Amino acid sequence: MATFQSLPGFREFYPDDLSRRKHIFDLWRRTAHTFGFAEYDAPVLEPLELYKAKSGDEIEAQLFSFTDKGGREVALRPEMTPTVCRLVGAKASALKRPIKWFSIAEFYRYERMQKGRGRCFFQFNADIFGEPGPEAEIELIALLIQCLAAFGLMEDDFYVRLSDRNLWFYYLEALGLDEPRIRGVLGAVDKYEKYGDDAFKGYTEQFGELEAGVKAKVLAFLQIKTLAALEQTLASLGSDKLVARLADWKKLLGGLEAMGLGRFIAVDLGVVRGLAYYTGFVFEAFDRKGELRALAGGGRYDDLVEKLGGPALPAVGFAIGDMTFALLLEQRGLMPAFVQAPDVYCVIGGEAGRRAAFADIHALRAAGRRVDYPMKEVAFGKQFKAAADSGAKLALIYGDDEVAKGVVKIRDLTDRTEHEVPRDQAVAAVRDFFSAE
Ligand code: HAM
Repeated sequence: MATFQSLPGFREFYPDDLSRRKHIFDLWRRTAHTFGFAEYDAPVLEPLELYKAKSGDEIEAQLFSFTDKGGREVALRPEMTPTVCRLVGAKASALKRPIKWFSIAEFYRYERMQKGRGRCFFQFNADIFGEPGPEAEIELIALLIQCLAAFGLMEDDFYVRLSDRNLWFYYLEALGLDEPRIRGVLGAVDKYEKYGDDAFKGYTEQFGELEAGVKAKVLAFLQIKTLAALEQTLASLGSDKLVARLADWKKLLGGLEAMGLGRFIAVDLGVVRGLAYYTGFVFEAFDRKGELRALAGGGRYDDLVEKLGGPALPAVGFAIGDMTFALLLEQRGLMPAFVQAPDVYCVIGGEAGRRAAFADIHALRAAGRRVDYPMKEVAFGKQFKAAADSGAKLALIYGDDEVAKGVVKIRDLTDRTEHEVPRDQAVAAVRDFFSAE
């Protein structure tokens, strides 16, 4: 017989897996609420056009796309950003400011599979619209950090690498490069960590060898690790744009320091982000040991809402992926073991006992208690073992003796004490037990 398997890179969630996923989503959602973000959702299938030339070549090449029965070119969403821009853009004037939105949703990219990367994955997306200054970045980077710290991860577990595409632009402009060349250098910077000097191949093919003096400055810029070093490097260039940009950096880092989050941040100009739409600050979160792929990524994208037909609306946001994040939690022993324990397990003898038990079982469940019982008649000893194994706090016993006496025996499975209550008081006794807990 043929066995059907899921498609490569797609995941199935057995109950234990789903418990872990749910735990992660619940805490992300709760954290977003504490920051005053409102939740939204949107379609999984979108017009292909939404991603073409907007998300960038890499994502475009990874799209799951097809023609639907109505002849439309469509794609499974690879990311949320273009979609949320459309949503906000369509109602921008009616939305209460600041627009702080989040979502938890599934995405699809036809990627080469590796540890922490699949073809379908979940992201927590958070974005702020309508705020041009670094105040929005402060809020979002603080949220990103708290979304990881809420699980018990600390500054020696993860950090956020902070960079700035504007700063790169102004710097390279001050070094005499035009816009196409600047984009070429940024493409090389994006790949430099992975490929070393080979990262400049694309640039050389397009524009010829990058002038040695400029290249040395680019490589030195990549090494900068502090705001002080950044100021020192830029001081001599006499560019007003760079001076103004440094003021934004100070505001951003100062705000995060004041929140006590400076210890999570690393100035790192090696991050420029592959997605096409970023315009200013960009950031990525990584595990400190550097063993895993990115946990999260984001940045400012001030032009995208307008490019997608909305009003001019500055925007900044990030997304955390669930796969690398779950790996990190497992590695650090921070993924709780999930036990699906009932509150009450009923031990039942004979048909009369079953009928008596059923009335109470249903009443307890309707009152919100988790109640389990053996579906078929089983020996008493086995039932007591099942009750103990289930993790329930109480066993309710409906044996022949109890039924004859018109009582229910209640056993506390933690301290093994027992007492009897009249049948019509069993539900109230269980309620009292749990309300006293
Ligand atoms: P991204 O860097 O492409 O950004 O993805 C963000 C995170 O999603 C990654 O750091 C990673 O954890 C996870 N991720 C991405 N691709 C995969 C994959 N194939 N398998 C597993 N996890 C993956 C964006 O998507 C931007 N739209 C984020 C954003 C929101 N920017 C502004 N607002």
